[in-house]
Order: sequence, then structure tokens, then C-alpha cells
Amino acid sequence: MPGRFITLEGGEGTGKSTQLRRLVAALEQTGLTVVKTREPGGSPGAEQIRKLVVEGEVGRWNPITETLLVYAARADHVTRTIGPALARGEWVVSDRFNDSTYAYQGAGRGVERETIRRIDAAVLDDFKPDLTVILDLPVETGLARADARGGTETRFESFDQDFHERMRKAFLDIARRQPERCRVIDATGDESQVAAAIWEAVRGRFDL
Ligand code: TMP
Repeated sequence: MPGRFITLEGGEGTGKSTQLRRLVAALEQTGLTVVKTREPGGSPGAEQIRKLVVEGEVGRWNPITETLLVYAARADHVTRTIGPALARGEWVVSDRFNDSTYAYQGAGRGVERETIRRIDAAVLDDFKPDLTVILDLPVETGLARADARGGTETRFESFDQDFHERMRKAFLDIARRQPERCRVIDATGDESQVAAAIWEAVRGRFDL
């Protein structure tokens, strides 16, 4: 079977990282070799760019600079990590990918969708995930969870509630526009319920 590329998307505090670990474990149980990765990051160079993007002052970058930074990281990630793994026939599961740019830099920070689309086409050509799981959660719930987590990667949590509402809507719009690629999962349930819903979506999509 050829390698497959799955992405997990959603706003702050939707439980992506926990669910990603569970999904990777479930895939491995079926005998697949799985590469677990994340964005921004996922390769040594892209991890360095990540620090520039997710730490520091809210107004540190203007929206277009930020967009170019995440795509610079993405170019490195695809070339050095994702592409080679898929070529080896392995599966790749990434905590975020290009839908996050449409949501955060597009809907959140106001970069035109068409501008992102053109950068995306230049960097990725036609490369896209085989399946994208979008974890959906009311904004207040997500931000409260993210706040409880703490840490230094708080730059985007600092944007106002309206920013996060626009992003949530953007992820749902992406799912509506690309139903063959995207599955929206209600993330309000407990961890095991959400994991079971994700696993159903993945199994169904790939006949596992
Ligand atoms: P994380 O908190 O889910 O690890 O994601 C890191 C942060 O990076 C998160 O606040 C969203 C942000 N981000 C963007 O703004 N644009 C992007 O394209 C990606 C992949 C992440």
C-alpha cells in the first residue's frame, strides 16, 4: 500500500496533540509504519522557524511576513520529512498543515485567500493531505484549555476572541468546500470518545 498523509487541524486547545498520539498508536497497531510530525516544524530547519512564529510579541510579524515564514517552514518540512517518508511507503500524520495558514493568517490575520492559494501553489504544487481531520470546539472551551496548559508558545492564544471565532468558522468552511478530503469531529466529548470518532473517520476513509 502506498504511504498516506493525514493532517489534524483545529483551533487552540482542541486536543490535537493528544489525539495525534492516539491516532498514531492506532495506526501502528494495524502494522503500519507511521511518522508523527507537526507544523510549524517537523524538520530541523522548520523547527527553528517555528520559534520565530509561535513565540514572542503578538505584533512581532505583519501578516504577510508570517505567511511566508510558515510556508518557508512548510517547504523544508515537505522536502525533508514528509516527502521522503511517503516515498518509503510510510504513513505521515501531522499536527497541522496548510489549512492552518488559511485559518490563522487568512481568516485570523486578514491575508487574502487568493494570496495564500498562490503561495501554496508555488511551494506545494498540488501536494495535499489524503485526509484532514478537523477538531471543532467552542472557542471559550479551547482557549480555557490552552490557557491551563501554559508554556511559551502563547503568541496566537493572545489574539482576541473574535480572531479565534473567525478561525473556527474558517476551518468549518474549508471542510464544507472540500468534503472529500475533510472530516469534522466534535471535540467536546472526553478524550476516548473523540479518539473513537477520529479512528472511525480514518478507518472509513482508508478501509483499514
Ligand atoms: P500548535 O499550538 O497547535 O502546536 O500550533 C502552533 C501555532 O502555530 C498555533 O498557534 C497556530 C500557528 N500556526 C499558524 O499560525 N499558521 C500555520 O500555518 C501553522 C501550521 C500554525
